[in-house]
Amino acid sequence: MGLTRAVISSILTIITTILALACASPTFSPIQPPSYPLAVRSPYLSVWLPGNLATNLPTAVPEFWTGQKLGWSILARVEENNKWTTYSLFGFGGGDANVVAATVVSGEYTTTRSTFVLTAGAAKFSLEFFSPVDPKNYVRQSLPFSYFTVTVASSKGVPVQVYSAIDKSFTGNFDANPQISLTQTTSGKTSIYEWTPSKPQVFVEKNNAAQWGTVVFASRQSDGSKSFTYSAGQRDTIRGQFVNFGKLSNASTTVAADTITAYAHDLGNVTSAACVTFAIGHYHEDAINYLGAHRTPYFRSVYPNSVSALIHFLDDHSSARADSLAFENKLHDLAIDAGGEKYRDILALTVRQVFGAIELTIPGGATPTDTDDVLVFMKEISSNGDINTLDVIFPAIPLFYVLAPEYIRLLLEPELRYLKNGGPNQAFPVHDLGTYPNATGHDNGNEEHMPVEASSVVLIASLWYAKATGNSIWSGSGGTFTSTLTKYADFLSDENNGLYLPSQLSTIDGPGPLAGQTNLAIKSAVALNAFGVLSGIKKYSDRGLYYASQLYNSSGTGIGQSCGDAAPHFTLQTTDVHDCADYAFSTAFNLYPDVLLGLKTFPQSAVDMEDAFYPTARKEAGVQADTRGDWMSTFWGFWAAASGEEGGATEKQYINDVYAFISNGKNTHPFCDRVHVTGDSVGLEYTWRARPVTGGHFAVLARKKGPDLIWK
Ligand SMILES: *[C@@H]1O[C@H](CO)[C@@H](O)[C@H](O)[C@H]1NC(C)=O
Ligand SMILES: *[C@@H]1O[C@H](CO)[C@@H](O)[C@H](O)[C@H]1NC(C)=O
Ligand SMILES: *[C@@H]1O[C@H](CO)[C@@H](O)[C@H](O)[C@H]1NC(C)=O
Ligand SMILES: *[C@@H]1O[C@H](CO)[C@@H](O)[C@H](O)[C@H]1NC(C)=O
Repeated sequence: MGLTRAVISSILTIITTILALACASPTFSPIQPPSYPLAVRSPYLSVWLPGNLATNLPTAVPEFWTGQKLGWSILARVEENNKWTTYSLFGFGGGDANVVAATVVSGEYTTTRSTFVLTAGAAKFSLEFFSPVDPKNYVRQSLPFSYFTVTVASSKGVPVQVYSAIDKSFTGNFDANPQISLTQTTSGKTSIYEWTPSKPQVFVEKNNAAQWGTVVFASRQSDGSKSFTYSAGQRDTIRGQFVNFGKLSNASTTVAADTITAYAHDLGNVTSAACVTFAIGHYHEDAINYLGAHRTPYFRSVYPNSVSALIHFLDDHSSARADSLAFENKLHDLAIDAGGEKYRDILALTVRQVFGAIELTIPGGATPTDTDDVLVFMKEISSNGDINTLDVIFPAIPLFYVLAPEYIRLLLEPELRYLKNGGPNQAFPVHDLGTYPNATGHDNGNEEHMPVEASSVVLIASLWYAKATGNSIWSGSGGTFTSTLTKYADFLSDENNGLYLPSQLSTIDGPGPLAGQTNLAIKSAVALNAFGVLSGIKKYSDRGLYYASQLYNSSGTGIGQSCGDAAPHFTLQTTDVHDCADYAFSTAFNLYPDVLLGLKTFPQSAVDMEDAFYPTARKEAGVQADTRGDWMSTFWGFWAAASGEEGGATEKQYINDVYAFISNGKNTHPFCDRVHVTGDSVGLEYTWRARPVTGGHFAVLARKKGPDLIWK
């Protein structure tokens, strides 16, 4: 039989295509980010997957934001030709010859979900890790739980069983004989496992994990599934039950070093699609110590215990998901409109991280009811663990301005109340309220002093809140905090505090204190004008405008301006302490609220000067935040970008540079907000991660589209 050349050639093409399909590497959309958020809802539920591990998802081990590895796996049994095979889909490090890795097809992240598709024999699986973001729904937002759903699809019909397990690593306790008690509760079709420290230490962290409350792991029998079983016990034994029988039994509740809690769902013969949903989280009644009073998550006003909360959470899955899809679509469209697809991809990676650093609280108690007294607390994750740090809340405001501006008040009020009731005896606000979750203040004034930074933040942010919401409770001479804020406006009004700045720290505190920081003096000028507008007391605005006129003069003689050959720009230090010919600069991101809030403290020509400067200042991978360091700040960068011409060269440059950073494949941690822009480490993340400051990425969207865009 003679095969013609043409036939051979087409057979070869077909074989090549089949091989290519079989060996095709997974596709990642929109990019393979440094780290995928998996379950990110509170400072104590912050689980991520390093982006590069997604390629080998079946063996990839997820991590707490710290990098601590977490035991969390998903397996599936698939029957073909009367033979069952167990596949690892996620998080199974190996070491069991009876478990084979499924094949990763794709990975995707959107604003609230990270989704991976794998094939295992005749079945196709999708794993959706969904962390709801719904800030105006206080019950939903405050539940510190996350969903994951395993969906099976099969074209021809195939019997499938699904298993998932977690271990004690979620408790932050790595002792050989951990003092942890384990309970299992069944309520209707729902099963809940709770890992609770035997001797809870309220408000104590170990390895950044809470040493009180309980790690929860829940699931329930889904419609149409044949069986739903669960067990706790020794890791290999429990997994062996699933591998051998597809069912779990013989629970033990003694926690040893290698104890796991697991669920198995028998989905029967899946002829089209079937799915099972799980919940994972950290339940705690005591959320925050606020000045000695315990505060609790908001949801407890409706669901006062873990069982009722988890049953509600699972009941709410489809409606939370539908709402979330609507939110995502709206945000993605707005982001594309404001800054293009790259900007959308940056914002989509930002949102869970910011909400994962906060807790929405009310006063505590066995059955808390005071839903009028809501306060939000934010952890300065990774940089120092402080609570409600002013210069961490402040940069995140653009996100809250766009999504839920009431949070500006909810975040500021803990400190403003503290200051109003006395606070420490000092002329400026405290930088933070303590170490998360202890918002106990600094009565002795022993804190990280940032006199001008902290004073300016409370003044500008208060006007920001009023303008974003139209709520006037903080406005006018009788505003709730006007007399408190006046103290700080008076402090800045002394030019030896607010214009000719003594050596001090600003928000860019890494390089240490410095005298005459121009960008800080800009903040002081904007803050005085902002307070004049908020309070209606003109002398403060006059003072702010006067400071601005001293810092910048269109004839080039302002004390904050450079001189000489280089492109004109705001200097690092004012000329009362330093020569204007020194090229050194800090990005003048404090112009952003002046522009956004329409204050016009500085003339347009000052903004234009700085906007024209940034493209000239760019190093290999972006503009330094401050010439004392070789790194760009992603969020202050977006503040700077959003101060100048809308859609201009500076804005495009920052979007491109931040996008290049998160898509360059060189980084593996939750969104780091600083990247080296020059030198040997160019393109590498610089130290910090998972911080809520990244809310500042919303600056461009906030400027272009205004406040409260999603859930009006
Ligand atoms: C599963 O369903 C398909 C389609 O109906 C059928 O062909 C197959 O034999 C079933 N498999 C088992 C094990 O029942
Ligand atoms: C919170 O305060 C308590 C009581 O002083 C202390 O034991 C605990 O370690 C503090 N927590 C943190 C995270 O600093
Ligand atoms: C449960 O324990 C019983 C008695 O020890 C044993 O016969 C059975 O095989 C065990 N079942 C599983 C699934 O391990
Ligand atoms: C700018 O500087 C010039 C020259 O020093 C001065 O005459 C002018 O008044 C200044 N303009 C403002 C607005 O302060």
